[in-house]
Amino acid sequence: MIPSTVDRLLKPLHRWVWLDPHRRGRKLLRFAETEADGGRDLSRAAELTADPLLRRLYLRHSQDEQRHAELFRVRARQVLENAKASTLEVNWLTPGERGLDDLRVDATGEDALLAFLHLSEKAAAGRFTLYQSVLGTDEGTREVFREILEDEAFHMSYTRSQLARIAPRKQGLRLWQARAGRLWKTYLRLATALASVLGTVVLRAQYFLILPIFALLARRAQRREAPGFAKARGSNLTSQY
Ligand SMILES: [Fe+2]
Ligand SMILES: [Fe+2]
Repeated sequence: MIPSTVDRLLKPLHRWVWLDPHRRGRKLLRFAETEADGGRDLSRAAELTADPLLRRLYLRHSQDEQRHAELFRVRARQVLENAKASTLEVNWLTPGERGLDDLRVDATGEDALLAFLHLSEKAAAGRFTLYQSVLGTDEGTREVFREILEDEAFHMSYTRSQLARIAPRKQGLRLWQARAGRLWKTYLRLATALASVLGTVVLRAQYFLILPIFALLARRAQRREAPGFAKARGSNLTSQY
């Protein structure tokens, strides 16, 4: 599976993201959550479908995702046990399999669901291939991705062939719609990340630039008021005694 052009351009960044073992462990834990979540969605899809073949495929897919979740969880624990603390997390740059998407199985038609799944699996396969290549000497994590990728290739191909079976005329449209939906969610995610960064920058600028100016002005005002206050106080004292 070939990673997307954007991912290939961002490869040095991905390498940096995966370099720190603590960050790597946390990332694997989040992947475990995403895979488990995907497994639950697929088991719900199996319950809802009226198509016996799709039911079988969804169930197998769901079991695969649960197994992936366990593989990621076990590996994350191993990595974290050996890791030292590091604080910086770059979650928005490395989403998991369906990290960019919140799937609503109940509200999605069968063909739209298959198109969505196909694109998600394709994106995941591309990402996991890239992660394999930036993991340096971490052979254990690379092996986890290698094992999972075999299943992702199957998920990618069955979702595509089943979409062609149940919606032969609308398959192109459904894929286009799913792609547009993913792009929109990517944009929202990036916009949210950017807004959060800008918010932090503005708050820090206020704290370090504007607050000292107000403090200085307050001190000057206090200095200006001080002699008058002393004078007034002095005259009061004189009149009293
Ligand atoms: Fe998976
Ligand atoms: Fe998958």
